[in-house]
Amino acid sequence: KSVVSLSSTEILCDGESFLNFSSNDYLGLSQHPLLKERAIEYIQRYGVGSGASRLLSGNNGIYESIEKRLAELKDAQAALIFSSGYQLNATVLPALAGIAGHFLCDRFVHNSLLTGALASKASFHRFQHNNCLDLEQRLAKLTGRETGGWIVSESVFGMNGDLANLDQLERLSMHSGFPLFIDEAHATGVFGETGMGLVKAGRDERVIMGTFGKGCGSFGAYLACTEKLKSYLVNFCSGFIYTTALPPPVLGTIAAALEIIPGMYRERQYLHQLAENTRIRLKELGFDVGNSASQIIPIIVGTDANAVSLSEWLYGNQIFAPAIRPPTVPEGTARLRLSLSSSHREADIDKLINTLKQWQHQE
Ligand SMILES: Cc1ncc(COP(=O)(O)O)c(C=O)c1O
Repeated sequence: KSVVSLSSTEILCDGESFLNFSSNDYLGLSQHPLLKERAIEYIQRYGVGSGASRLLSGNNGIYESIEKRLAELKDAQAALIFSSGYQLNATVLPALAGIAGHFLCDRFVHNSLLTGALASKASFHRFQHNNCLDLEQRLAKLTGRETGGWIVSESVFGMNGDLANLDQLERLSMHSGFPLFIDEAHATGVFGETGMGLVKAGRDERVIMGTFGKGCGSFGAYLACTEKLKSYLVNFCSGFIYTTALPPPVLGTIAAALEIIPGMYRERQYLHQLAENTRIRLKELGFDVGNSASQIIPIIVGTDANAVSLSEWLYGNQIFAPAIRPPTVPEGTARLRLSLSSSHREADIDKLINTLKQWQHQE
């Protein structure tokens, strides 16, 4: 299929318009006039490409002002921008492993984090999803030894829409001395007082990452950490060193997104309420939405065949919500992953719910 995303709520498939529930553009910022304006302005001022890696001549001064703003928003000593979230996770973890011996990852963390942990020289452990007791038991076997380690989790899980038990993770991190590495890809823009996620970096060793390609409507990623870790990564992280810097228009849209996201309280509140209403209505129809507590709502239907049948039924009714199947999610939990945005209206949810009812009747 040829697919063109027109906004966070409308997508063109082979030229036909569909109601879109597959976009991570949670605040609709990819279409925001300020982001568009800033992209054009930066193209006119700086051109379309950066021409080199940041360590050579690609370190446009805009980076520094964005990183300073990010550090303030995350209450961190420092921040560092990367070209994408995947690149960040896949290359920062191996760089951290130079100073740590173990990665303990939640079983459901994103593929980029697994890639990073497995590519490192550290030993790799997975704890049961959101199960701090299991994590505690695993930590007990490791702490007290010479080598340290990292506890790795998402704050809002991308495939389930549930939230990590951050208080417990913090307690276990303090107790074990293993710092947290938290991925806020799906919390950025949507959660927290200023919309910049659920975890502040503070002054300790913890590392928080977030992406600009989802709730910020743009592209790229950042890491919030200590000054010391930032300078270590600038010198030793391959995914930072050996790649072309982000193009100026992308930096312009990131700067614009960071200007407006902190003030988007109403959009966030609306989105959380819309998600809550949608979950209630789905549960009333008997659908399993897992432990979703965010704008990401899975409809877990079990078999791959069911997920495909449901997705095709919606598609036949001009609704775009692709099926997600193993190995992206565990066996037996094939699903539709609904992604809501503050641009969705109640009428969009009515259309979705009515179409789901019809599917249940024809099944
Ligand atoms: C939890 C999580 N982390 C990282 C990434 C990668 O981010 P990016 O799309 O910027 O490469 C994703 C993308 O889907 C994600 O869901």
